[in-house]
Amino acid sequence: MEIRQETREFWERAGAVKTFTHPLDPELLHAYVPPDVPVLDYGCGYGRLTAELVAAGYADVRGVDVSRALVERGRREHPGVRIEHWAGLPLPFGDGSFGAALLFAVLTCVPGSGEQREIVAELGRVVRPGGVLYLSDMPLQRDRWDVARYEAYAGRFGTYGVFGTSDGGVFRHHEPDRLRGLVRAHGFTVEAERTDMVPTLDGRTAERLQLIGRRRG
Ligand SMILES: C[S@@+](CC[C@H](N)C(=O)[O-])C[C@H]1O[C@@H](n2cnc3c(N)ncnc32)[C@H](O)[C@@H]1O
Repeated sequence: MEIRQETREFWERAGAVKTFTHPLDPELLHAYVPPDVPVLDYGCGYGRLTAELVAAGYADVRGVDVSRALVERGRREHPGVRIEHWAGLPLPFGDGSFGAALLFAVLTCVPGSGEQREIVAELGRVVRPGGVLYLSDMPLQRDRWDVARYEAYAGRFGTYGVFGTSDGGVFRHHEPDRLRGLVRAHGFTVEAERTDMVPTLDGRTAERLQLIGRRRG
């Protein structure tokens, strides 16, 4: 499944004008991410959560995104917040530069397992030992409508949980154990997890899974 180029183009056009809704959980954030550590918001989009972190008192926050259009929008909407465009990996940061990294609703936009591994491995490199990966994403849903679309698209994309949208997006919902394994395989211990219901990009409500990974020393 190599659809990287198409999905990148989507995030420059239709994806770049969407309103993102996947919320930060302030309780988890404050319990695991101290306000005085450098924080990376990877896949920050238009800097919605980057700006929220700054407003919450986090002193050293930077957002990075692959979409030039979303970064430009973020700079317009949140002047003064550090939001940078970086199209590939590795990131332009040294090993252990950050005390925490956010990965919010990004893996749902990355259909390929290999590309997902590259992202989490890179966050394992830039988060220092003892630091935190705060990941929030969409597990496989159990409702009939979602199950029907997983089945309808499984043949086309070859991976259960990957589906397309009418505006050209390709998304993935994840087997929770695979997500936990991804985090563990790249240097983190899963220290906490939580599920709740959140609004989605298409105006519905769906279950999400939050994982707190602690970077092993
Ligand atoms: C649903 S948005 C979430 C943005 C932000 N984290 C938030 O919650 O507001 C998904 C983000 O993932 C980025 N993205 C899409 N494909 C990606 C990829 N292959 N690698 C890294 N980021 C990607 C998009 O540019 C977009 O900003």
